[in-house]
Amino acid sequence: MGAGPAGLTLARLLEVAGIEAVVIENRSREYVEHRIRAGVLEQGTAELLRDAGVGERMDREGIVHHAIHLQFDGERHRVPLSDLADGRSIVIYGQTEVVKDLIAARLASGLPLLFEVDDVSVHDFDTERPRIGFTHNGEQHELECDVIAGCDGFHGVCRDAIPAGVLETFSRVYPFGWLGILASVAPSIDELVYAHHENGFALLSLRSPVLSRYYVQCRPDENLDEWPDERIWEELQIRTAVEGWTLHEGPILEKGVTGMRSFVAEPMQHGRLYLAGDAAHIVPPTGAKGLNLAINDVCILAEAVVAWCETGSTTGLDGYSAACLRRVWRAEHFSGWMTSMLHSLEGNDPFDLKLQLSQLRYVTTSKAAARSLAENYVGLTTL
Ligand code: FAD
Ligand code: PHB
Repeated sequence: MGAGPAGLTLARLLEVAGIEAVVIENRSREYVEHRIRAGVLEQGTAELLRDAGVGERMDREGIVHHAIHLQFDGERHRVPLSDLADGRSIVIYGQTEVVKDLIAARLASGLPLLFEVDDVSVHDFDTERPRIGFTHNGEQHELECDVIAGCDGFHGVCRDAIPAGVLETFSRVYPFGWLGILASVAPSIDELVYAHHENGFALLSLRSPVLSRYYVQCRPDENLDEWPDERIWEELQIRTAVEGWTLHEGPILEKGVTGMRSFVAEPMQHGRLYLAGDAAHIVPPTGAKGLNLAINDVCILAEAVVAWCETGSTTGLDGYSAACLRRVWRAEHFSGWMTSMLHSLEGNDPFDLKLQLSQLRYVTTSKAAARSLAENYVGLTTL
């Protein structure tokens, strides 16, 4: 269920193993291919896509980065990720591009991928014959299957279909959001900049040599009408200013506001229904982990399904949730920590501000602290 990164990657991994799947998506192809979201792939995510045979364009157009910058008190500090994390790096490649590559690969294989499906419902997943009901092109369908993978995002139907009392949920909603822009201008930076500023956080990222992706902290319910392009550039200029460096402006192609939350539902499975990606957990984007977690979940799920099909063993399936949650909770901590270190917090408590600056100074001066940030950012290999 769902043709986001989780559902499409899972389908690809199953295809490689010779296992049949049907991908059901309620939006149009056009919509899912143009929904601008994450941009940072951990090295492990990039390797998985490559191994699954969908990494060719990523290897051509993706940009390998070995560092990020933390900015505070008007100064930029380079955190050399690869030096600190055993040579590991990240790849800048938009989620939209990952999704386009996966869709193209699936269609090229002639395998079922249904867009614009309506009235989706899941049934009997506490039996050995789960069913999915949906309408497509005005016709009603029922699909019988062995396993349902709920990869339908935070607002999907799968999580809510699990009977009351089974799931325990943990959540935190932040009193701020990000206003993100995609601008048609060469990025003014060659490595990502996470900037702490009294006006609020700002992030400088990129998509390509001619496309910049920038964010400013805003209210979670921010009205975009109050943010004409000039105001966005003005805030970006203020929050990211450092001496001897210029932020170049250009036409804004897209802008949107993202609310921020942390959320986990446990366990990530019930009967033959397995939740993966945003359907089971959300992280605030400050750690660049959402997409990477989704891919990690389906990698574990695919392995478990393949083992079950090949040997009949349910060990992998039974342990699916526990195996995913180790990385999920690490990412929850890291993302929450980055978020609280970098954003203007409610009430602007001067004590909080002093703690943030102290922490930022610590991670940019202590090798031990920087190493901790780096290994989490590029993706831990020990989980
Ligand atoms: P999704 O990408 O949400 O895919 C779920 C799919 O299921 C969608 O295509 C949806 O249309 C479909 N679906 C929903 N309901 C149904 C249904 N009933 N039937 C069938 N299909 C259904 N992460 C970062 O690391 N950095 C970022 O900058 C960042 N920005 C983000 C901005 C926004 C607005 C959002 C919402 C998320 C952002 N994230 C970011 C998080 C990251 O994009 C997600 O973690 C990632 O998309 C998770 O992939 P997924 O496949 O689990 O879920
Ligand atoms: C992005 O490029 O969209 C991006 C990069 C880093 C983040 C979040 C988003 O932490």
